[in-house]
Amino acid sequence: MNEELIRVDRLTMHFPLQKGLLANLFVREKRFVHAVNSVSFAIAKGEVLGLVGESGSGKTTTGRMILRLLEPTAGEVFYKQDNITAYSARDMECIREKMQVIFQDPFASLSPRMSIGDAISHPLKIHGLAKGAAARDMTLAIMEKVGLSPAPFLYRKYPHQISGGQRQRAVIARALITRPDFVVADEPIAMADVSVRAMILDLMAQLKEEFELTYLFITHDLATCKYICDHIAIMYLGRIVEIGPLRSVFSNPVHPYTATLLDAVPVPDPRYRRTHRMPRGEIPSPIDLPPGCSFHTRCPFARESCRVEVPALTEVGGAHAVACPVRAGSRGS
Ligand SMILES: Nc1ncnc2c1ncn2[C@@H]1O[C@H](COP(=O)(O)OP(=O)(O)OP(=O)(O)O)[C@@H](O)[C@H]1O
Ligand SMILES: [Mg+2]
Repeated sequence: MNEELIRVDRLTMHFPLQKGLLANLFVREKRFVHAVNSVSFAIAKGEVLGLVGESGSGKTTTGRMILRLLEPTAGEVFYKQDNITAYSARDMECIREKMQVIFQDPFASLSPRMSIGDAISHPLKIHGLAKGAAARDMTLAIMEKVGLSPAPFLYRKYPHQISGGQRQRAVIARALITRPDFVVADEPIAMADVSVRAMILDLMAQLKEEFELTYLFITHDLATCKYICDHIAIMYLGRIVEIGPLRSVFSNPVHPYTATLLDAVPVPDPRYRRTHRMPRGEIPSPIDLPPGCSFHTRCPFARESCRVEVPALTEVGGAHAVACPVRAGSRGS
């Protein structure tokens, strides 16, 4: 593994459940949404880790905790080996320009009252990196880099005056103008038109090389990981159930949940037959997490022990690890 840029250690977020006034008076017990439960992983410099899972599995919450946009209930985040969970707000300000985020919805993340150029240059002002003509030149340069061309023309436009693809490019430019080395890309193509998706992915891959970026690439769509990720982590109800190099997880999924997710990826061959059974039943509530393995309620391979013990991630070869003793054991590695 190259030099490690980001590491999270047992990161946990339990949101207290808001109760009504009466419930507050009469019900003593505090309840929580167990959004993220003891998640650990590392991302090497220059690598892309795909964080994949269904809606509500805790992907965004994990990303926000890494950037300290949310204070974790427990656990730690290390940036360049430094424990930034211990940083004061002031210390955090010093490294914030190095850790940026691209949100899913470019319309929502751009102010309708700010021109595209002003929005992209805004972080330079906030972090005191440049102003006036220097800021404008830097903005025009990054706009050209992300394909917002001709930049001087688009600089003056407002979000509603440009296309969806251009808005997403503007959000990417705004994230990169401070020259970060780590970017959380939270479903960056989910809102884009199908025709634009491939272009945005290509652009992100190209910018990664040019700016020597490291990404946490959040997606609910395993198929898109193929184009950009080096490693993938599969999340289910706030826990990582499988993690490893992309090729190893794709060719050899061990956790039953990963196998069913992979089976849902469309294959352009009419003769192809699905081999894994889809999980039965509904995804349980993160408020009342099932005891033991969170997936046991839907798992065709569940044994008695799965209902009791939370399985730890265990290596099954290379850097590939799985939280399923039943399947990992039967694999004979
Ligand atoms: N501020 C909050 N207060 C209470 N619960 C929250 C809060 N933010 C998120 N949650 C809950 O935490 C869980 C994880 O949410 P999160 O947004 O991280 O999931 P996600 O994997 O990003 O889903 P999606 O694919 O829909 O974006 C969900 O059950 C969600 O309802
Ligand atoms: Mg999300």
